[in-house]
Amino acid sequence: MVKIAKRLEIGLDNLSGTSILNRTKSKKYLLFTPGPVNVEENVRMAICKEDICHREQDFDVLLQSIEKKLLQLFEIKNTSNYRAVVITGSGTAANESMLSSTVGNKNILIISNGEFGERLFHISEVHNKNTFVLKFGWGKKIDLEKVETFIKKNKIDIIAMVHHETSSGLLNSIEEVGMLSKAYNTLFIVDCVSSAGAEPIDLEKCNISFCSSSSSKAISSYPGLSFVVGKKQEFEKLKDIQAKTTYLSLYKFYHFTHTISQTPNTPAVPLFFALEQALENILQEGVSNRHRDILNRANILRLGMKEMGLKFLIDGNNMCSVLTTVYTPEYIKVSVLRKKLRDKQIIIYEGKGEFKDKIFQVGNIGELSLTEIQFFLDTLQKILQESKILYNYLLAM
Ligand SMILES: Cc1ncc(COP(=O)(O)O)c(C=O)c1O
Repeated sequence: MVKIAKRLEIGLDNLSGTSILNRTKSKKYLLFTPGPVNVEENVRMAICKEDICHREQDFDVLLQSIEKKLLQLFEIKNTSNYRAVVITGSGTAANESMLSSTVGNKNILIISNGEFGERLFHISEVHNKNTFVLKFGWGKKIDLEKVETFIKKNKIDIIAMVHHETSSGLLNSIEEVGMLSKAYNTLFIVDCVSSAGAEPIDLEKCNISFCSSSSSKAISSYPGLSFVVGKKQEFEKLKDIQAKTTYLSLYKFYHFTHTISQTPNTPAVPLFFALEQALENILQEGVSNRHRDILNRANILRLGMKEMGLKFLIDGNNMCSVLTTVYTPEYIKVSVLRKKLRDKQIIIYEGKGEFKDKIFQVGNIGELSLTEIQFFLDTLQKILQESKILYNYLLAM
């Protein structure tokens, strides 16, 4: 830890945040991924809290508490204008719920610059015949002028995009697109699956109608729950739009939540206990402290990897704080690197799609202590050094 603090030329106090300093005992792997994550001990315990029935008051109270905490997580000032619903299902369930319930016969534009933008497009295509897509290259910034021209030309009613494009690590500007949505009076739907809990998301300022996220990324709970936070008046309007799915009807979730504080179907109750605890942990720490804490960890990792001569896909100003996307050096295959790290109980991600075999990704969310981050850096350095020696030896033969 001292080594890390020295590296950053800051005191240990500045790296504090309870989650980073408390070591979880039962870790088989250190999950340096953008989710799933290592959870805090109290989240692990919460999952086996009590056996309750989801049609009893215990669950109503639990759901109300989660909804309140979700609105606090997004630091919404005017809370009476917003509501949140929780869905049993991974982040895709929340995305599909939004895209199948809000469009009707209107025109929807998906802005895409990576794998998860493409996924939004494919989900929308299944449900909405008037789906348009504007593609920018993977990891490339969104060209706002092109977006504006497209909206004007095609009479777009709804814009949807990803906030943090996890496939590259690029943080898209929802503020700028939000301003366009305001100017052209469209709904604005944002996939915040891998940014909520790590990056500030100002729903009011960005004119977001609905946004989605999941329990298992920066919120640091178990996988299996997702949620949609949105403007109350937009939830109300869904009553008049025919949902194109039954299980994922967003209006149905809203109706059950605001009338009886329940979910339409049987929810994964133990995961709700875990999510509530994970949210409580963030609120106890303070939302902006948590954001700073995650960014500090990213900076420590980035500094350490830079010192090893590694290069990053996205420039510093546009990187999300959740993960770092690193070009794989020519002297090692990404699958070999991943295996060697796994042998040391460290899990990272490989690039997918256009980035396959070219990059690897190192996440820094969840319960990872400074000691563990240092362990990761030391292990990575050793693996890279050994591989480089072997590579040069084989080249010289
Ligand atoms: C931005 C984004 N959207 C959607 C998803 C899909 O989430 P899930 O796998 O939880 O369904 C992910 C998963 O990594 C993601 O990063």
